[in-house]
Amino acid sequence: MNRLLALIWILASGVTAFAQDITSLEKIGPVTSIVKSDQSITLNCRDNSQVVITIYAPDLIRVRASFTKPVPSTNHSWAIARVAWPKPRWNLNETPDFITLTTDEIEIVVRRSPLLIEFRDARTHSVLNSDERPMSYDAQGRLNNIMFDPKVGMFVAASKKLGFDEHFYGLGEKASHLDKRRSSFVNWNSDTPGYTERTDPIYQTIPFYIGLQRGIAYGIFFDNSYRSYFDFGKSSQQRAWFGAEGGEMNYYFFYGPSIKKILGRYADLTGHMPLPPLWALGNQQSRWSYYPDKMVEEVVNEYRRRDLPLDVVHLDIDYMHGYRVFTFDKERFPDPKALTKKLGRQGVKVVTIVDPGVKQPSDKNERYHAYDQGLEKNFFQRRRNGDLFVPRVWPGESAFVDYTMPEARQWWGDLHSIYTDNGIAGIWNDMNEPSDFVDQTGKNQLDVVSFDNGEKTTHAKNRNIFALLMARATYEGLERLRPDRRPYVITRAAYAGIQRYSTMWTGDTNSTWESLQLNIPMFTSLGLSGEPFVGSDVGGFIGRGNGELLVRSYQVSFLAPFCRNHKVIDGYDQEPWRFGKYYEDIIRKYLKLRYTLLPFLYTTLEEAHRTGVPLFRPLMLNYQDDDSTYNLDDQFMIGDDLLVAPILKTDVTRRLVYLPAGGWYDYWTNKKYTGGTMISVEAPLDTVPMFVRAGAIIPTGPPLNYVGEKPVDPITFNIYPDDAGTASTILYEDDGISPAYKSGNFRRTKMEFRRGKTETKTVEGTYNPSPRKFNFVVKK
Ligand code: GLC
Repeated sequence: MNRLLALIWILASGVTAFAQDITSLEKIGPVTSIVKSDQSITLNCRDNSQVVITIYAPDLIRVRASFTKPVPSTNHSWAIARVAWPKPRWNLNETPDFITLTTDEIEIVVRRSPLLIEFRDARTHSVLNSDERPMSYDAQGRLNNIMFDPKVGMFVAASKKLGFDEHFYGLGEKASHLDKRRSSFVNWNSDTPGYTERTDPIYQTIPFYIGLQRGIAYGIFFDNSYRSYFDFGKSSQQRAWFGAEGGEMNYYFFYGPSIKKILGRYADLTGHMPLPPLWALGNQQSRWSYYPDKMVEEVVNEYRRRDLPLDVVHLDIDYMHGYRVFTFDKERFPDPKALTKKLGRQGVKVVTIVDPGVKQPSDKNERYHAYDQGLEKNFFQRRRNGDLFVPRVWPGESAFVDYTMPEARQWWGDLHSIYTDNGIAGIWNDMNEPSDFVDQTGKNQLDVVSFDNGEKTTHAKNRNIFALLMARATYEGLERLRPDRRPYVITRAAYAGIQRYSTMWTGDTNSTWESLQLNIPMFTSLGLSGEPFVGSDVGGFIGRGNGELLVRSYQVSFLAPFCRNHKVIDGYDQEPWRFGKYYEDIIRKYLKLRYTLLPFLYTTLEEAHRTGVPLFRPLMLNYQDDDSTYNLDDQFMIGDDLLVAPILKTDVTRRLVYLPAGGWYDYWTNKKYTGGTMISVEAPLDTVPMFVRAGAIIPTGPPLNYVGEKPVDPITFNIYPDDAGTASTILYEDDGISPAYKSGNFRRTKMEFRRGKTETKTVEGTYNPSPRKFNFVVKK
């Protein structure tokens, strides 16, 4: 391809030009001496660089490098939930050429000259991951994006040898396929309405990935919030590298070999997702925007009249008085408390959107409490020269809060009392990349200085953590305002660690089949990146939808943790009934099925909270040794037991489905299959192919119109015996609403089926559910 053709190809394919050539960077110098301490070693290098390798756990190692100067004493990250780790057993061994650190699980072999780090399995000594070249840096700022001042920092990079058969997963929210091999990505939180496959970056930054080769997995979390780059063998067949335009080379290495174990450790390090209220698993409806209050009531009435289940309705930006956050428009919503009460009697909760832009009054005499207080307390972001930073968002000229200040977070959280006092059940954070209509690339914000734990750093470092800290302020505010309730927050943008504070949705998708095809790899990749509670606007957000697309979209989302139909201001109405009875009847079937599956979904969600293993899974997470699953983008599993293969194209009513080894039951017909093969199945519009793993028991409850409508009684255990005639499950229950589960107020019931009988094996926890009958149905 000549250069012109290559350029045209890049532009046409929508790929962000990604020209970083890390081979031109300076390499860290060789090791001259080492210092050992309790849990780490410090390597001093000939060029005055320093590397600290810290053993956090037998399977978790941190590598921190500072180029041409010592590693600074400051050591703070907004992503990290746990800083103190008990000292694990480890040994150090030195030879003239190598330094070897050994834990019970990993061997870290450091070559002194050139400085190269290799991670091996401590038992088999087989190589898991090794440096392709020494860690490197760009003191001249040649690789920094032209918009940054080189003084902001230097480009730092680490480069790993690319395995011949190495696959890459995770990296959070990317408009891309499941296996990221041969792709490269940029992380710079960006408002990208109508994004399509390969638009990059989009809203979130989760610089964590999992490498998998020959069934053995490791993880790398590059905890650096500057604009970062990941290249998994795209620019070169030799290397997988990552780097950032500032900050430290600072990464954590996780060893599995199982991906599930890595996800558990990642959750230990960056935080476990707390359980949201159970009603968050209910069906949700949104629109830009429902107003006035009567219209919200009409939507809810329509849901009830049509016998469609519903738990939550969302109020988009037009509920506010002139887009002023923490206000209600007096004409459209004269009595929000009465509204939430009324809807509450119908079993429906209200979630309101809260954007970061605090409207700047256009008239000096106008009083607006959020703006006045923020200004007076000096909580708003300022430019380096002290000027207030004035972005333009929905309310026009606005101010953003410096959420890196603890007092500002506290104040912002407390402002939510207007919502909790009015019975609002949850908060939806949007536009928090942060979006600025003046310039979406961040150029307008470059000289904004944030407090940042006293370090007074600029936008280059803080853009990607803005949403994380806004969500944190919101979550902690809700916790203070309603200590007996679990907070429910939804966010668009994020940085690693977001799961501690918020659930998420994938932003402004299109109402197209191509956009629908991104749902599964995006949900599964987010799950592999520590964010289990995900979903996408059902039916797509921008553009013209239709009944067929809406139905097929529900056939993915009815099992996603976040199931919310939402639509742009000028699109076709998209509530389940809007394209006619034919489609509405099918959607009803799937929404009802979601509600009967709630005991199963909630049990699997609690597993995600406790273990970090997501509910909505790619098949490779359950079948890590099966390479037929490594790039499967159009099937998913819920937990270990339910496999779903939706139709993602128009006018298609048959598809191939891959069933991994083992026995499987067709969910609809109970027909048995032996896996390890592809099968072809019928999938007319009213059918999504679903299969249950032989050996599973799926607990289901009674049909509900909303969570809490009536007691979950009876619970039916649907038993799918394997070839040996056995099956088992665990049922998790708690009060669904309070944080008491954190102190043991839950009930975990383990069931086993053998020789035609079901036995309750163990019961754990102190929660006493209301009396309910257990039914057992054995599938044949
Ligand atoms: C953004 C959000 C979208 C919302 C709109 C208006 O585009 O992503 O969900 O409806 O803003 O608030």
